[in-house]
Amino acid sequence: MRPKDSRSNLFDREVELGKVVEYVGRLGLPITLVLGFRRVGKSSLILVALRELGLSSIYIDLRKFEERQYLSYRDFVLELQREVNNLTRRFPRLLDFLRNIDGVSIMGNQALFSWKSSSRVSLASLLDAVNEWAGNGIVIVLDEAQELVKARGFNVLPILAYAYDNLRNVRFIISGSKMGLLYRFLRVKDLESPLFGRAMGVVELAPSKIVRALPIGVCW
Ligand SMILES: Nc1ncnc2c1ncn2[C@@H]1O[C@H](COP(=O)(O)OP(=O)(O)O)[C@@H](O)[C@H]1O
Ligand SMILES: [Mg+2]
Repeated sequence: MRPKDSRSNLFDREVELGKVVEYVGRLGLPITLVLGFRRVGKSSLILVALRELGLSSIYIDLRKFEERQYLSYRDFVLELQREVNNLTRRFPRLLDFLRNIDGVSIMGNQALFSWKSSSRVSLASLLDAVNEWAGNGIVIVLDEAQELVKARGFNVLPILAYAYDNLRNVRFIISGSKMGLLYRFLRVKDLESPLFGRAMGVVELAPSKIVRALPIGVCW
């Protein structure tokens, strides 16, 4: 089954939903983490929260790279390009903010991002542009972000730190398992990590009471 995306279909997650909306919306925290095991309901919670927040969003689903040994800049940039173009179709004015960036070309109502090493687009410039465009705030979701530890030839942590410190309108929701995300990807305990010492909103999803009750019902 697909993740749920409307509040009426999302059971038993009022508290967690309230936290995500508060952290990202009211408090405007630069980074909110959504932690939990596989299939606990992270993506569903995030999709419903995005609806409730009513902000523009870019949703990068990294689960599709799960089977891969590594992730190249091309893989990441093409994924980002696809999601950014979902936005430009709805908000063509965003193209005006993207068109002067090195490594970006505009074709009709689509933005094309170069991933070739000689002319590759910088993620920081893209975020700068999106930040300028999104006066009311934009949410960038990195779903199952621990897959980014497989990144080769690029590193998103310094970009996240740059956005955290400088880009007021950009807010990240980053999901994954607690161990994978906090320790392997963000390296929160590592003094050398670009994100060391940054406060983040944390929403942890325990297995749902409803789901936990099911096997017992089945047994009896
Ligand atoms: N709170 C919930 N209410 C109803 N269905 C849920 C809920 N949480 C998860 N599900 C269902 O469980 C499955 C896994 O949810 P998903 O959001 O994809 O989890 P995750 O992203 O943590 O792997 C999906 O079929 C989804 O529809
Ligand atoms: Mg998911």
